[in-house]
Amino acid sequence: MKLLHGGDYFPEQWQTQPETIKEDFAYFKQANINTVTVGMFAWSILEPEEDHFNFAWLDQVFDLAEENGIKVILGTPSGARPNWLASKYPDVLRVNSRLERNLFGGRHNHCFTSVNYRERVRIVNEKLAERYGQRESLLMWHLSNEYSGECHCEQCQSAFRHWMQEKYGTLDAVNQAYWNTFWSHTYTDWQQIHSPTEVGEMAVHALNLDWRRFVTDQTIDFYLHEKAALQRYSDDVLVTTNFMADTEHLIPFQALDYSKFSQVVDVVTWDCYPAWHNDWESEANLALKVGFINDLYRSLKEQPFLIMESSPSFVNWHDVNRPKRPGMHQLASMQLLAHGSDSVLYFQMRASKGSSEKFHGSVIGHVPPERNRVYQEVATLGQRMAELDGLVGSMKQSEVAIYYDWENDWALQDIQGFSKTGMHYHRTLHDHYRPFWQQDVNVDVITKNNAFEGYKLLIMPMVYLHSEDLLEKIQTFVKSGGTVVYTYLSGMANETDLVYEGGTLAGLQDLLGVIINETDVYYPSQTNQLLLGDATYQVHDYAIVFERTSAEAMAYYGSDFYQGEAAVSVNHYGDGQAYYIGARTGDDFLATFYTDLLEQLNISSNSSTKTSQDVSVQTREAIDGTVYYFAMNFSNQLQSVELSPNLVDVSTGQEVETSLDLQAFEVKVLISKT
Ligand code: GLA
Ligand code: ZN
Repeated sequence: MKLLHGGDYFPEQWQTQPETIKEDFAYFKQANINTVTVGMFAWSILEPEEDHFNFAWLDQVFDLAEENGIKVILGTPSGARPNWLASKYPDVLRVNSRLERNLFGGRHNHCFTSVNYRERVRIVNEKLAERYGQRESLLMWHLSNEYSGECHCEQCQSAFRHWMQEKYGTLDAVNQAYWNTFWSHTYTDWQQIHSPTEVGEMAVHALNLDWRRFVTDQTIDFYLHEKAALQRYSDDVLVTTNFMADTEHLIPFQALDYSKFSQVVDVVTWDCYPAWHNDWESEANLALKVGFINDLYRSLKEQPFLIMESSPSFVNWHDVNRPKRPGMHQLASMQLLAHGSDSVLYFQMRASKGSSEKFHGSVIGHVPPERNRVYQEVATLGQRMAELDGLVGSMKQSEVAIYYDWENDWALQDIQGFSKTGMHYHRTLHDHYRPFWQQDVNVDVITKNNAFEGYKLLIMPMVYLHSEDLLEKIQTFVKSGGTVVYTYLSGMANETDLVYEGGTLAGLQDLLGVIINETDVYYPSQTNQLLLGDATYQVHDYAIVFERTSAEAMAYYGSDFYQGEAAVSVNHYGDGQAYYIGARTGDDFLATFYTDLLEQLNISSNSSTKTSQDVSVQTREAIDGTVYYFAMNFSNQLQSVELSPNLVDVSTGQEVETSLDLQAFEVKVLISKT
């Protein structure tokens, strides 16, 4: 097995220059490319007219790939429909939330419910499977592209109503779950149910949640429909689609619940485009966010994932599209491997000549490879990746988990109350992740679908939407010796965003040994203090006023009407313990708090000392017990770090000193046998 190196390639754009395609494969080989992903967006050449198929160009790609020992990931073309299809079947086009049907244009502009769209997709997918489904070089199916978006057409409305009927059975149940007597919103007919829209209903939070759940389910249903069309000819090949991240903030993609979607893909793959070298944060802080999201996407299936797309240098859709500085491509790509990827794949292998993505980074650009720094750096990375094939399939061992939930994220976005501007769910997640990243402790970012057993420490930041089922899982985890940490804004609402009577889920208060009375918030310039021993830390945005039943106080508020009352507490529960952090603080308090916990719980770190917290050490453990250490310097200065003895540098084969020097933006990979 090899780590995959390669990416999205669009030979259909170069049919008038056949020699270009041949040259490309020669360049691929030189750059240690072993995989190409083809076929996404190629529908108009695959099926230029309804039911007339043209495979000659794609046959040639498979031939060239095979001649060069390159594997093919084959995309289905549903990410962009051809003009003729939209003209003949206008219902394939999406209807926006103002109930206007889009014109033909762009991509991803189609209705996932449309009967006509599903039928044309079925036909073209089946043809592809029939022709290539058994081809030796076919590595994987890549369904569509970055499934996303929603459609408000009549077919979708009726599917949504059906979904609601299945879920609730009666309108009474819906009205109760939605608290619909508020503002006289009671439904008296299923036909009254409509997707949330700015020209209609937006204020019923449970409706917003259910619509998002429906959009996820409908997208999954479309994925399964595409997959079913392949089965007859190709049922033994892996099937996946490429997930995304919220591109601006590098946080999990918001519009689909990937904890659900991941259950139907054979392998999680995603498209990773951090804005390296930006002017608002350090490389290390950005690397931390990249680490977090990879730790989440790996944990979705608890198996290695694939980076399906990344840019070898810059993208074209940031405000400023900066090239990666020399060395950054290696460092950034190695970080993806360090967090569990078995690939570094690119968008794109060759830049297009026209239209909107012509200035997007690519392996082969408009400047010939011989004088293209990006191509050279890709080739160097390819060489280093070839030394790391033993990594394939290896996992990370983590004793710490941080909890993330898409539905909770959606509910927090809807809250009208408390501090809206100070909500910052993702910043809080990163703040709780930071102490571990900085101390080189592996972390899994898990969701409600993961098993909790096996972790020593489970952190639950801002779990506002909190089901009874989740509580049961947590209770079991703590009773059998686990340590859990909850924060402010926890356990307030159920799955349809109805507030628990008593203000907070009773069983959660019991677990934490507290009674939660009040949620105080601060304007940005206002603060309180948190007093811990002799130290004082600043409190901002959120402070919960609570009483203790069985919990012990660890830290206290320094001022305001609850001065002297507990701000942080710990409760012994079964064989474990439950911490409650009532106030939002800065990194200083969290660093102290988690450093103590790491020590108390005897959680191991991948390094001992280091000259800067901008150095990150992550490990993966292969099935044969070999541990891979990725020592990564995200600072622009020379740094050093101490690791365990007897490690061997993979590139040189030499045993290294325990204290390892890393040049600016350097990454070293070391192995040990356990
Ligand atoms: C996405 C798409 C690609 C391409 C890139 C550009 O990830 O899947 O087709 O548009 O963005 O960064
Ligand atoms: Zn629709």
